[in-house]
Amino acid sequence: PDLAPAQRRVGWWWQDRDRLISLATEHGPAFVYHLPSLQTAIDELEQLKSVDRVLYAVKANAHPDILARVDAAGFGFECVSPGEVRHVLSERPGIDPERILFTPNFAPREEYAFGLEAGVRVTLDNLHPLQHWPELFKDRDIFLRLDPGQGRGHHKHVRTAGTQSKFGIPLFELEEAARLVAAAGARVVGLHAHSGSGIRNPDNWRQIALVLGEAAEHFPDVEILDLGGGLGVVEKAGDEPLDTQAMDASLRSMATAFPGRQLWIEPGRYVVARAGVLIARVTQTKGKGEARYVGIETGMNSLIRPSLYGAWHEIVNLSRPDEPATTPATVVGPICETGDVLGNDRLLPDCFEGDVIAIANAGAYGRVMSSSYNLRQPAREVVIE
Ligand code: LLP
Repeated sequence: PDLAPAQRRVGWWWQDRDRLISLATEHGPAFVYHLPSLQTAIDELEQLKSVDRVLYAVKANAHPDILARVDAAGFGFECVSPGEVRHVLSERPGIDPERILFTPNFAPREEYAFGLEAGVRVTLDNLHPLQHWPELFKDRDIFLRLDPGQGRGHHKHVRTAGTQSKFGIPLFELEEAARLVAAAGARVVGLHAHSGSGIRNPDNWRQIALVLGEAAEHFPDVEILDLGGGLGVVEKAGDEPLDTQAMDASLRSMATAFPGRQLWIEPGRYVVARAGVLIARVTQTKGKGEARYVGIETGMNSLIRPSLYGAWHEIVNLSRPDEPATTPATVVGPICETGDVLGNDRLLPDCFEGDVIAIANAGAYGRVMSSSYNLRQPAREVVIE
């Protein structure tokens, strides 16, 4: 059990609990996005002096109001599917397509043709496109995604390097890659790598820069080293936050080591995770021997991260701020799966039907990964100033 309940009450959602209680009562289960918190994260990323461009990873949360804020900050957009590219182009009409980096993996030929036609920057994740469709890339500027060798992140499903991961061109294929690029008549203007997600080690991006900077020796036209996303946020009381100033300082040495090369990063989670909570009312409770269950209106159909990765999201009962947390309870949804658990063994005050529960850090990889499994609609999205 989590033994530090007092420390848990940190976040805009605790100050704003009355508003959240009314929203849940009015709308039922909802992802609520708090724009001032989003802006705080954006502002913090804008302070990184060694980073020439921040691209927001749209996969984390594609809500139009979030894209608007990110756009207003001048960030680019990292998209992994034609759907995401089209969504950004239609939500932000008139945007320079060069601000969009399209990074598909194992995608069919038509998707690369689509990206090039749309005028967005295109990343190749494998040699296959150059081996089999070289005509597509003639006279084109492209990015190559490399496998930096070592993966990092909060769960093996999100570590995106090494032979166990499907992503990126391995470093031993660099010479072959350079030969294929030349044969296709393309120019590699950017090298890209992303080692995983949920990383709070500030040195991670410097290590990637080192790998990419050295790999750039094979490609004379490289102007950009895109170090990927993966910036982690605090999940549990006691977690060490990512020190973005230390990250900045460590990257500054790379800007010196590789002069004339721009450094880009692609955060998704860091921008939006903390700005979102999932709120839902308690439906039923029960005790079963030692075990205590608190049921809420929505479950893994809205937020699958706990089921999929064992991810830890702070859970609080907003309706009972002054009552002591007593015994551990498992918070579950209404889906017909034993794995439909939002949090195991959480210290909560006694919960009653109609109480409003908040699940924190749900702004990233929440609604975008939701489903209508059991034909239960996932929580709706609400934006607050
Ligand atoms: N760039 C690339 C190429 C990526 O593959 C990803 C995430 C990002 C940037 C953004 O990563 P972030 O800064 O958000 O960590 N569903 C998982 C996370 C999957 C991340 C996939 N790629 C989760 O809920 O933890």
